Amino acid sequence: MSQRRKFIKQSLMGSAFFIPGLNQAFARVPTEFSAGQKPLILSTWNHGIPANEAAMAKLTGGGSILDAVEAGVKVTELDLDNLSVGLQGLPDREGITTLDASIMTGDGSCGTVAFVRQIKHPISLARMVMEKTPHVMLVGEGARQFAISQGFPLEEEILSPNAAIEYQKWKVTSQYKPIINIENHDTIGMIGIDSNGKLAGSCTTSGLAYKMHGRVGDSPIIGAGLFVDDEVGAATATGLGESIIRICGSFLIVELMRQGRTPQEACEEAVKRLIAKNKNIKDIQAGFLAINKEGETGAFAVHPGFNFAKATSSKNELIDSRSHFTL
Ligand code: GLY
Repeated sequence: MSQRRKFIKQSLMGSAFFIPGLNQAFARVPTEFSAGQKPLILSTWNHGIPANEAAMAKLTGGGSILDAVEAGVKVTELDLDNLSVGLQGLPDREGITTLDASIMTGDGSCGTVAFVRQIKHPISLARMVMEKTPHVMLVGEGARQFAISQGFPLEEEILSPNAAIEYQKWKVTSQYKPIINIENHDTIGMIGIDSNGKLAGSCTTSGLAYKMHGRVGDSPIIGAGLFVDDEVGAATATGLGESIIRICGSFLIVELMRQGRTPQEACEEAVKRLIAKNKNIKDIQAGFLAINKEGETGAFAVHPGFNFAKATSSKNELIDSRSHFTL
């Protein structure tokens, strides 16, 4: 379960920096990549443990893999201790919390929302965009109006107690400077495969803390924060959105798997590409997860500290990812 997090960062083109793992509430196991298993759910960071649990419960209870990845991340969207997902997340520099989310299935169906306010479950709104509109993405006021039309309640626009405390501290200087992220994570990205090989994924975040009003990260960008293709596999991302968007990270991983790379090789190649295409890499953390259609998995990050939750029908464990740079 997540703990309080401080996340600061930098200038407009800024970079995100995460201090490796503190406050882990779950036992860790060494990174290992077993032979393919189905069904399987992977999700980013330690908040993935309770999210996976909900996703697997949905799946074993007869829900679809799409239902599962929606149900899983909804747990994180409600986690009041989490300052990087949901309405309790850290706000932008104006003190307004804006959310991004995406959802996708392996047949190419997808829906996303970005820069949306007052909606408790942006992942469910993204699913509504996918299922009830001819569009893929709705943003800002349009997304909010669509939410109202679909019966989503509008939440009161006040910061959560934890976010309000952190925002007041940030306002003392109001500078984009590296803030140590004691919680060591941001965003939840979840990908899953059912026992028939059907894939789906979800990704939801409150984005970079103290971002410019209107800033959107990778999470609601199909191909950046999430990509799913039943013919190949699925990938999701976490970390500094700008660095992930620059390389279409999740799409890149799926396409590398299509060309024959294993999920692990594909994640490592994406990190290599991200490092090549981003300046100030020492200050940028990003991590990727992948599953192929055989149920084999991969994970890799720029820096140490990234971990992920892996659930099968019998086990839900937190695993440390390997990284390009080491301590
Ligand atoms: N990865 C989340 C964001 O950059 O907004």
